[in-house]
Amino acid sequence: MLGHDVELLLKQEKKPYLASDRDVDITRPDQIKDFIRDTRIEYIINCAGYTAVDKAEEEKEKALQINGEAVKNLAGAALEKQAVLIHISTDYIFDGMKSEPYREEDEPKPLSLYGLSKLKGEEHVLNMLKRYYILRTAWLYGKNGRNFVFTMLNSLKTKDEIRVVDDQQGTPTYSKDLAAAILVILRTPLLPYGIYHFTNEGETTWFGFTGEIYRQAVQMKMVDPPVTLRPVTTKEYPLPARRPKYSVLSRDKIKKALNIRIREWKDALGDFLQTVKEDER
Ligand SMILES: NC(=O)c1ccc[n+]([C@@H]2O[C@H](COP(=O)([O-])OP(=O)(O)OC[C@H]3O[C@@H](n4cnc5c(N)ncnc54)[C@H](OP(=O)(O)O)[C@@H]3O)[C@@H](O)[C@H]2O)c1
Repeated sequence: MLGHDVELLLKQEKKPYLASDRDVDITRPDQIKDFIRDTRIEYIINCAGYTAVDKAEEEKEKALQINGEAVKNLAGAALEKQAVLIHISTDYIFDGMKSEPYREEDEPKPLSLYGLSKLKGEEHVLNMLKRYYILRTAWLYGKNGRNFVFTMLNSLKTKDEIRVVDDQQGTPTYSKDLAAAILVILRTPLLPYGIYHFTNEGETTWFGFTGEIYRQAVQMKMVDPPVTLRPVTTKEYPLPARRPKYSVLSRDKIKKALNIRIREWKDALGDFLQTVKEDER
């Protein structure tokens, strides 16, 4: 999802790049080496990951391998090429016990195997590199991948009633906006290395997010009302992986450092739904 949007922007901005998909398995150092052989590289942007949060509770080894160990391979490649590693991480490294936005220096305490595996990845970057950006994001959706917005659009079209969790607070984030922020990082050579949080502005619950998807989709005539939306608690909607109750990330550091404004999540969602509607035509 994110990888597609980053590639599209690199292409639009005419930046020279090499992009890979499953053709380069990041758990295989030899494949990474082959891919970047004889190429001068300034930045490595790692958008790959094991992102099935619930399945990770079963597929522990696989998640740890891809989100943890494989990051060592990419950090090794960055060292070899004297490149900067841009690595993507998650709000799920936090336990969600705070009631105000998480800052970059707050202590990670993952509740799930997915969160733990992503934290391991961060640790490899911190231990191996001086020149890196770790970008933590949250509740990502975009055009090229399975995500909550597509799931809800589908449910809104096919069901009369939807139950959605209303006691987890976070910020929906459009992958296109995160990709744009990554491009700004590439254009900001004096940006201090370190950890940065990026999400869209604002906060809501999964139920609030669904309500807004519904409202905008009806307005755009993508969905026929009425559909009943029912708020439920996490307890009433049990899933294998535990999630933080509150995982809003503070955007203060990145906004100041990059001198950017970030869109409200509702505005970004509107933009996204518009593209989905155009694609449906
Ligand atoms: N999605 C979210 O809500 C969310 C929230 C916070 C942070 N993040 C982080 O944001 C980043 C991008 O997420 P996304 O949602 O764009 O993920 P995504 O759509 O699931 O894309 C991840 C990609 O990595 C690929 N991949 C998996 N294992 C690989 C391997 N060993 N070698 C090479 N490629 C491999 C996947 O291929 P296959 O599809 O073939 O497996 C997939 O194309 C990830 O680091 C994720 O942890 C995501």
